[in-house]
Amino acid sequence: MPENTLTVVDNRTNKTYTLPVENGTIRAMDLRQIKTGPEDFGLMTYDPAFMNTASCKSSITFIDGERGILRYRGYNIEELAENCTFLQVAYLLLFGELPDDKQSKEWVKQITHHTMLHETTKEFMTRFRYDAHPMGVLASTVAALSTVYPEAKKVRDRDTRMHQIIRLIAKVPTIAAYSYRHSLGFPYVYPDNDLSYPENFMNMLWKMVEPKYVANPVLARALDILFILHADHEQNCSANTMRCAGSSEADPYLAVAAACAALSGPLHGGANEAVLTMLAEIGNKDNVPAYIKRTKEGHGKLMGFGHRVYKNYDPRARIIKHIADQVFQVTGKNPKLEIALELERIALEDEYFISRKLYPNVDFYSGIIYQAMGFKPEMFTVLFAIPRVAGWLAQWNELMEDKEQKISRPRQVYVGQELRKIDTSRFSVVKAMSR
Ligand code: SDX
Repeated sequence: MPENTLTVVDNRTNKTYTLPVENGTIRAMDLRQIKTGPEDFGLMTYDPAFMNTASCKSSITFIDGERGILRYRGYNIEELAENCTFLQVAYLLLFGELPDDKQSKEWVKQITHHTMLHETTKEFMTRFRYDAHPMGVLASTVAALSTVYPEAKKVRDRDTRMHQIIRLIAKVPTIAAYSYRHSLGFPYVYPDNDLSYPENFMNMLWKMVEPKYVANPVLARALDILFILHADHEQNCSANTMRCAGSSEADPYLAVAAACAALSGPLHGGANEAVLTMLAEIGNKDNVPAYIKRTKEGHGKLMGFGHRVYKNYDPRARIIKHIADQVFQVTGKNPKLEIALELERIALEDEYFISRKLYPNVDFYSGIIYQAMGFKPEMFTVLFAIPRVAGWLAQWNELMEDKEQKISRPRQVYVGQELRKIDTSRFSVVKAMSR
């Protein structure tokens, strides 16, 4: 039998099939030949939530969930967090290599000069209620950018794609900051081109009446590293949404808005906000054992714990825990850290969590840092979305250039009613149009 093949016997017909194995997968379409007769559509795979289905080939991010490894374009996340800025990592995700100094200078200049929003977009944002959830504002405003840049529909043109990619990476922090200022009734702060990406974000968030905002360098670097850690994560729920929307050739603004919607769910990017709600509900470390008991009895989940891919400690959570110490030296310790540490300590010793390989994920500690920095919990998922825009766009760009890809359209297993007629004795129907 040739190597790298799978031989299957269909016991319904006693026929034998040999399927090629490539990259540890079989092509689902190779199953369609397996039929019980000429009328049979052929076999499909049934995989709710895509638990075991590869949707694409990608060279952007590699995760080894068993060993807790995360790499962007082959570099370990620990090394990138230690040595790079977020914009350098965004460049790496998009172009496959870290930029040299000349490329970096041009890239930062491009991004810096696209941070402004069109005044009509700023005006659009003033119409949200002051208490509008920032993720709703972000998704809506990013979608609205589609109307400002109609040329973005030329998704098959590489230069047009790159122009929109730069605009989105540059403008999302501005949108996030404007929504935050609007929620407080504060005037908008315009971007300051003298500042770095994280410093300018802090400037647009927190500048008051001082002539020039000066960011605390420890907090600016902590934010930059947090952006690096959240930049991409292969085919997660929101990246899959970005690819699915992009596969119909929707413009990148509308596709990113769809990805924002997916990220907002508490099982995904919304978990960082849900962790703070959980820690507040627990109240103090003495209440942790009772909360864990309730979780084990099936009353809710430990937010910030568990992961579809990581069956080991999420490497990002480990780095974030380390950043917390540095941030708290500036901001003062967030008392919720004590509850989180006790929760982790007890959970990691408990058979329920050990047997299910549930470890802290990227969302478990990030919110504690954001809160210490002065962010409201409603902003936490927006802080996740800002860097993830770079990852979504890298995935989208890869999709646009992938010759194997076409519009996403999964099949289904129909389990509904068979053919039936309307029983007109049971209710009056619209009079048939005269023929
Ligand atoms: C992110 O995909 C990505 O890469 C996402 C992300 C990224 O960077 O894009 O990493 C970001 O979304 C991180 C995850 C953030 N979400 C949370 O922290 C929410 C809490 N976690 C869970 O909802 C859950 O762990 C998921 C959603 C993250 C993963 O769910 P799965 O893979 O579908 O696992 P499952 O729900 O089938 O759980 C398996 C078992 C179940 O128990 P049994 O039915 O076998 O008895 O583990 C239990 C679950 O009940 N379980 C938990 C739990 N997570 C899973 N029990 C308690 N607390 C939890 N957090």
